[in-house]
Amino acid sequence: MKVAIIGSGYVGLTTGICLSFVGHEVTCIDIDPGRVETLKSGTAPFHEPYLSEMMRLVKVKYTTDYAQAIPEAEVIFIAVGTPSRPDGSPNLEYLESAASSIGENLGPNYTVVVNKSTVPIGSGNWVESIVRDAFRRGNHGHRPENFAVASNPEFLREGSAIHDSLFPDRVVIGADQQQALERLYSLYRPLLDQSFAAPPFLARPDGFGAVPLISADLASAELIKYAANAFLALKISYINEVGQLAQRVGADVQLVARGMGLDARIGTRFLQAGIGWGGSCFGKDTAALISTAAEYQLEMPIVQAARKINSRQRELVVERLLGAMKLLKGKTVGLLGLAFKPNTDDLRDAPALDIARRLIERGARVRAHDPVAVPLAQKLYHDLAVTWCASAEETAEEADALVLVTDWAEYRELDWAVLAARMRNPLVLDGRHFLDAARLKASGFQYLAV
Ligand code: UDX
Ligand code: UDX
Repeated sequence: MKVAIIGSGYVGLTTGICLSFVGHEVTCIDIDPGRVETLKSGTAPFHEPYLSEMMRLVKVKYTTDYAQAIPEAEVIFIAVGTPSRPDGSPNLEYLESAASSIGENLGPNYTVVVNKSTVPIGSGNWVESIVRDAFRRGNHGHRPENFAVASNPEFLREGSAIHDSLFPDRVVIGADQQQALERLYSLYRPLLDQSFAAPPFLARPDGFGAVPLISADLASAELIKYAANAFLALKISYINEVGQLAQRVGADVQLVARGMGLDARIGTRFLQAGIGWGGSCFGKDTAALISTAAEYQLEMPIVQAARKINSRQRELVVERLLGAMKLLKGKTVGLLGLAFKPNTDDLRDAPALDIARRLIERGARVRAHDPVAVPLAQKLYHDLAVTWCASAEETAEEADALVLVTDWAEYRELDWAVLAARMRNPLVLDGRHFLDAARLKASGFQYLAV
């Protein structure tokens, strides 16, 4: 099938590469000429495991030109970013511009325009009207427009994007026209049936069978994405709330999480207590859900509480350090990890940057390291008074405390005795319940956990 994808970010690029891998003819369109050149040269524009390897296995075309792919496309995905505005509502400017460029270039054959970006509920109809208006403004003679809008929310996690796309838990498609649903069903058939050979570097999980398909109306498909992300976010906030109580009563939150999680109705995943969530989705999607509900005079107190707890966890880092060090002014704190989670260089809503700001406001000096995200942090946050470090050892230099912010595997393997020797005071605050406390204590550290 001929597929065009607008927006070569985490979602669009991964989707394009994986659809090409299972046999479709894919063109990725992006307005950023620099990004398109990078892609054409075979380089991944961001850090994502297996993305470069997959890029080498497929034949995807990359362009900035809508006219090259839209007229022929049978399915067009919109995967441009939808960042939050200050009031929590999503900024739909990019979505609008993509929809209108699609309308201007639409061909005569039936096309399905798919919202892959996380869009507010009801956006399907809005996108349809923009495509139609743009089509009518264009020079198409008297030919009637021939398209439908569908929703196909994305559930991939950064850091395991390729795995999640090839071996998804489910595929959700939503449209109000049967023909559109059928087309998306054919598009996803190889993934649903798992009829493709897995890439050599990424085996199909043991026992992984056919993938369930949820075929829904537009509004339900749109709401599924928000409801799923908000639920994951509140699961994390719930265990963090329990963690606060665990600390006071002398219980171990990780044991509590495990004991809870083995109840199949609850599940063990997303019960990792610590600094809490960051990234491009949970903050934005919970805010958007609250803002959509408000338009219908509805409050969502559970989702609001999840956000409040998440913000409190970041402040807690500062409070715990203050409790242990008594004074932050003039003290040096080293942050291990900048990315919002391991295996990505994404810094959107990264707790580390928020924590750095809070520490600087209280007079502390901040040093920071990340295995991949330092160059991006230097570029985006050059006005933040942080000393960017090339290694964990350099971060520990003369530090009064280290905070483990991102659970990168390599931090667990560090030679902690070497770090302790370099520090003014060997104190570590483990923000992810990730480090081996016994080993750290043996290396001379005072070990605290959030
Ligand atoms: C995605 C989704 O689209 C977003 O709605 C979801 O909530 C999070 O994941 P992501 O893939 O992370 O966003 O976006 P980003 O990495 O910002 O990439 C967007 C790409 O679209 C960029 O390469 C940008 O250059 C491109 N773009 C943006 C266009 O091609 N056209 C535009 O008009 C705007
Ligand atoms: C999320 C959803 O998981 C994905 O399905 C959706 O499509 C996009 O948003 P992503 O933001 O890439 O994916 O990362 P995710 O793995 O969900 O982690 C989000 C944040 O939660 C990270 O900051 C992570 O450190 C934190 N987290 C996760 C916890 O604090 N505890 C946990 O138990 C799990």
